[in-house]
Amino acid sequence: ARDGTATRYTVVQRPAQVEILPGVLTDVWGYDGLFPGPTLRARRGERVVVTHHNDLPVPTVVHLHGGHTPAASDGFPTDLVLPAGPAATSRTGHGGMPHGAGDVRRGTREHVYPGDQPAATLWYHDHRMDFTAPQVWRGLAGFHLVSDDVEDALPLPHGERDVPLMIMDRSFGADGELRYPSLDASLAGPPGVSADHTSGVLGDVLLVNGRPWPVLAVAAARYRLRLLNASNARRYDLALDPVPPQGPAFVQVASDGGLLAAPVAHDHVPLAPAERYEVLVDFGAYPVGTEVTLTNALGTGPTDAVMRFRVVRRAREDSTVPARLAAVPTLRPRRDAPRRTWRFARGRTGTGHWLINDALFDPARTDATVRLGDIEVWRFASDLHHPVHVHLAPFQVLSRGGRDPGAFDVGWKDTLDLRPGEHADVAVRFPAHPGRYLVHCHNLEHEDMGMMATFATV
Ligand code: C2O
Ligand code: CU
Ligand code: CU
Repeated sequence: ARDGTATRYTVVQRPAQVEILPGVLTDVWGYDGLFPGPTLRARRGERVVVTHHNDLPVPTVVHLHGGHTPAASDGFPTDLVLPAGPAATSRTGHGGMPHGAGDVRRGTREHVYPGDQPAATLWYHDHRMDFTAPQVWRGLAGFHLVSDDVEDALPLPHGERDVPLMIMDRSFGADGELRYPSLDASLAGPPGVSADHTSGVLGDVLLVNGRPWPVLAVAAARYRLRLLNASNARRYDLALDPVPPQGPAFVQVASDGGLLAAPVAHDHVPLAPAERYEVLVDFGAYPVGTEVTLTNALGTGPTDAVMRFRVVRRAREDSTVPARLAAVPTLRPRRDAPRRTWRFARGRTGTGHWLINDALFDPARTDATVRLGDIEVWRFASDLHHPVHVHLAPFQVLSRGGRDPGAFDVGWKDTLDLRPGEHADVAVRFPAHPGRYLVHCHNLEHEDMGMMATFATV
């Protein structure tokens, strides 16, 4: 609904049964009972107010990933929305006192998104302290798409040729139930789920927009695919099979934070948790009747392919690949710009903890204070693979491992996949909102096991 000053959405978080695997119903926790949640749409320059009601049996927190959001609406992990109904105790930890000094509400919370950011593929998901991973696993994730005039003026594929694809892995039991390693049991986990202290939790069934191994009928024309990795911990390396007879498989037009300055051709796309790559794929390069598989070079067996596109008919092409996309100002840190290092590494073996600068997340502690409007240089360093995410402020990659950033690091990023033993420097500027925000690993098991830190903007 639009009321003149804002676009308003109401979302009810509730248990639901949905058909994910053919012919069986799976219990999920869904935004509006959907898996994934409803796609919310926003327009640059328009305020969006999203009211969430919690009809689940556990506390929740809503975060808009990639949003330039006032702190009160950003979903700090202790800003809980308690269940609306009578409190039920469960082994997922509800019933105790909330951690730290959060802004705790019962039943409902309004989230205000000012809309002061360019067109981009954002997503919203749960962010409850210590329980983000299992709550997202049960279904609490959805797209939030921001559009603007710059994007509208480009001849990109649109309408049904603009397709958001939320990719995730899950595991199912014999009766179709979602399986996640019990929080108090050993991390060995049930069959079909692999979990250990290193990888986080991996499922053996890949889902796209909540469906396993789907096939999308496409016209022989160019499409825009908005690729989002909403998996807890799984990384992908996506390619097309067969490769197109001519031209690159993918032409990237946007990164996490919106349109690139100019398109970048790729023959494959790596996708770490929470990253977004928006790519153009020209199905017009294939003969009608071709089935094109989106493959995953990092998968094995059932996880080595994601979905299929079936080229079903000829079509008029009404898009082109523009030479220029959007004005992307380059962040140029001053010589004396503040510098900080965030080191992502496991605690001593056996503790099961993942740390930033040797510390566990503590919602009562502020790990850094930054000034609004400043450009800082942040160094991320890692022991293993860690998809590093910063709230509020998109960043630009200055270097990786001491070298120029690669072709996959272009544009505005909010999540950067660090490789084992790697460090990367990024330039980051903090938009208008004072308050406290997070930097964390977006491997959700690592996040829940403490790999998260707080920075304050002043
Ligand atoms: Cu996508 Cu702090 O999260
Ligand atoms: Cu985020
Ligand atoms: Cu990690």
